[in-house]
Amino acid sequence: MDKITVKDALNEACNILEGSSFNCSSKDAVYIICNVCDFSKTELQLNLNNDISSQCHSLILDYANTRAKGEPLQYIFGNTNFYGFDILCKKNVLIPRPETEYLVSKILDNYADTINHDPIKVLEIGTGTGAIAITLAKKINVQVTATDISIPALNLAKQNAQKLSCADKIEFLLSDALDKVDGTYDLLVSNPPYIPSDAISSLDEEVKDFEPIIALDGGNDGLEVFRKILKDSTRVLNKGALIAFELYEKNVNLAAQLCCNAGFEDVSIQLDLAQKPRFLFAKFT
Ligand SMILES: C[S@@+](CC[C@H](N)C(=O)[O-])C[C@H]1O[C@@H](n2cnc3c(N)ncnc32)[C@H](O)[C@@H]1O
Repeated sequence: MDKITVKDALNEACNILEGSSFNCSSKDAVYIICNVCDFSKTELQLNLNNDISSQCHSLILDYANTRAKGEPLQYIFGNTNFYGFDILCKKNVLIPRPETEYLVSKILDNYADTINHDPIKVLEIGTGTGAIAITLAKKINVQVTATDISIPALNLAKQNAQKLSCADKIEFLLSDALDKVDGTYDLLVSNPPYIPSDAISSLDEEVKDFEPIIALDGGNDGLEVFRKILKDSTRVLNKGALIAFELYEKNVNLAAQLCCNAGFEDVSIQLDLAQKPRFLFAKFT
């Protein structure tokens, strides 16, 4: 059989991906080749004219074909980067998003100086892969209780916490919202399912066909889980505690109103990197 170079494999993968009806690109081909061959992007360029093994070649084509059918790269390769941490991903657990990194950065700004204090007690509802809880545990002095209603999510979050050596700072709890939560907290953070049920069908196929519906569907107006969290939060929040949510741009105003009605103060809506209103912060007084 003729020798195949890295460049040949790249061209083949690009052809497969560019012919896909999904949102695929040559960037995906580069990602696949770098992962299969263990190259950095620079190494890929330097090795373009070198031969590739037939085993790597067929793996590259398999992955390109899978990606061309819409499967996100994070599920194909089983990981993603979140705030500089390598987070394991699995099909039945939502892939953490860059917007959520932004939510975390806003929280970290608020707790910049925690080293000399007692650990901040954090409650995260709907932890998924554990990305938020883990990043907080790695970056600041916290003790976290992280819940989810999904057993696969909790199992993966535990695995991630162990892999990233912060399992001693996070207690994982199977719970519908705060039903099984006790104790008191200084910070409640959540990126709950927030897409209104009738908007699910308009999501990208890569999201609605591959990511778990339980992580997306927020009921009639998208605020069903949010309402449940907010209602029970006052039972566990310390005075002065911060609540921080990622929500849908179309329901964040209503969510802010619900916080005001529930007596929270300093209610503020903040924009994401695309300048969409997505984050809600408030104080419990
Ligand atoms: C949008 S995902 C967020 C996952 C993760 N925190 C992140 O930001 O990538 C929502 C998560 O909430 C969980 N969830 C859905 N309904 C819930 C409920 N009633 N109580 C607790 N968790 C819930 C889902 O299983 C999912 O892991």
